Amino acid sequence: MKRAASAYRCQQCGFASPKPGTCPDCARTGDFIALVEERPAPQREGRRVALTSGRPRPLREVEIEHVARLRTHIGELDRVLGGGVVPGSLVLIGGEPGIGKSTMLAQAASRLAELAPPVLYVSAEESAAQVRMRAERLGIKTDGLLLWAENDVNAIEAQLDEVKPRALVIDSIQTVFLPGLESAPGSVAQVRECGARLMSLAKGRGLATFLVGHVTKDGAIAGPRTLEHLVDTVLYFEGEQHHAYRVLRAVKNRFGSTNELGVFQMGERGLEEVQNPSGFFLAERPRDAPGSVVVASLDGTRPLLLELQALVAPASFGTPRRTVLGADYNRVCLLLAVLEKRAGVPVASQDVFVNVAGGGRITEPAADLGIVLAAASSYMNCPVRGDVLVLGEVGLTGEVRAVTGLATRLREAAQLGFRQAVVPASNLGDGAALPLEAHGVATVDEAIAVLLR
Ligand code: TYD
Ligand code: MG
Repeated sequence: MKRAASAYRCQQCGFASPKPGTCPDCARTGDFIALVEERPAPQREGRRVALTSGRPRPLREVEIEHVARLRTHIGELDRVLGGGVVPGSLVLIGGEPGIGKSTMLAQAASRLAELAPPVLYVSAEESAAQVRMRAERLGIKTDGLLLWAENDVNAIEAQLDEVKPRALVIDSIQTVFLPGLESAPGSVAQVRECGARLMSLAKGRGLATFLVGHVTKDGAIAGPRTLEHLVDTVLYFEGEQHHAYRVLRAVKNRFGSTNELGVFQMGERGLEEVQNPSGFFLAERPRDAPGSVVVASLDGTRPLLLELQALVAPASFGTPRRTVLGADYNRVCLLLAVLEKRAGVPVASQDVFVNVAGGGRITEPAADLGIVLAAASSYMNCPVRGDVLVLGEVGLTGEVRAVTGLATRLREAAQLGFRQAVVPASNLGDGAALPLEAHGVATVDEAIAVLLR
């Protein structure tokens, strides 16, 4: 049962009362414990962050602030942040437990501490010794980096006045708490209120603040989504536990473009930047194997070449299976239906497995034609040539529709030695010069004719 909010609390059993005195619950077992007064948490402080600037003014009279960013000199992270972290901004880094959030922030904090000391790293889930051990492994020796195991936000606030850090890391938002609140750390109420408090601290002090937020499958603790509306920047750290590569994506950024992408590799000594992610994903690509097709996805401004693999085999019994890794399951089912109905490739009775090699992920419709061709190539046991890139969104009538950023995608492919591309015919209308030879196709059937027949 939820107790009413009150001002006096027993620090042993949590009994709350509106009046001072001793705790009646503990008195029964012979302990006379004085109730301690608690200040109720300020309500929704985050919404009152000082943004006010007098009265309304015409747009052109409002001065533009030039923000000086702090660079972490971890290139991939800086780019995703929009060129470095903005002082006074709140950055939320979400991701599944074990993906490498603490590792990345320890590395970033150490780089920041070299350039803008001191930096305070508050660990609310690991002891200072554990964090130190990680730092040893990462080769971090920066003096300007202060480490503190603490989870009371009030205590953190008090230390900020002492330490006066330029940047603050809170690892994690689900394990810090405000003692004045009824609910447990990690609950929606705690996560919101702590987030709001840290927001006003960051804004008030011009403090660059990073919050770690664990993404959990069960609903027992509030996920980072509860804070997305509040913070300035939301980055998600993704990847497969069993693959070395990790992708950092911006999904919200008040100080930069969203959908920017940073690629890292988890190694023995922490996260390393991957300068040439396309090369990384294509490194182990088999040559002339049926079912393998390369597509170029575009996340923000960054093209990324990915290898799509499909395996189509007769179903042994019952309903044919469809297994999809790294792409949207429903989209793949739709594309297989289009392949059957519009191009006459009978995949409905076949087991189909689709995978993005290297643990990559495809979120864009521009990879549709690649998925269709990979499945067709596997079914027909006919390889797609190794130096051909495939691009195009596929509609339900089997039409191939235009994609955005064609030239950027083709340029990336040309740099990695691709010579030809099969692209939507409607993309070639303007006759612009392209970095490699492009064949326009208007339908799935046509694409199969060009590449597989
Ligand atoms: P961690 O940063 O603790 O994850 P999170 O904070 O997101 O929960 O990273 C944990 C994983 O990273 C762990 O499984 C070990 C691995 N790791 C390495 O492979 N190399 C390293 O140098 C470090 C520090 C961690
Ligand atoms: Mg961690």
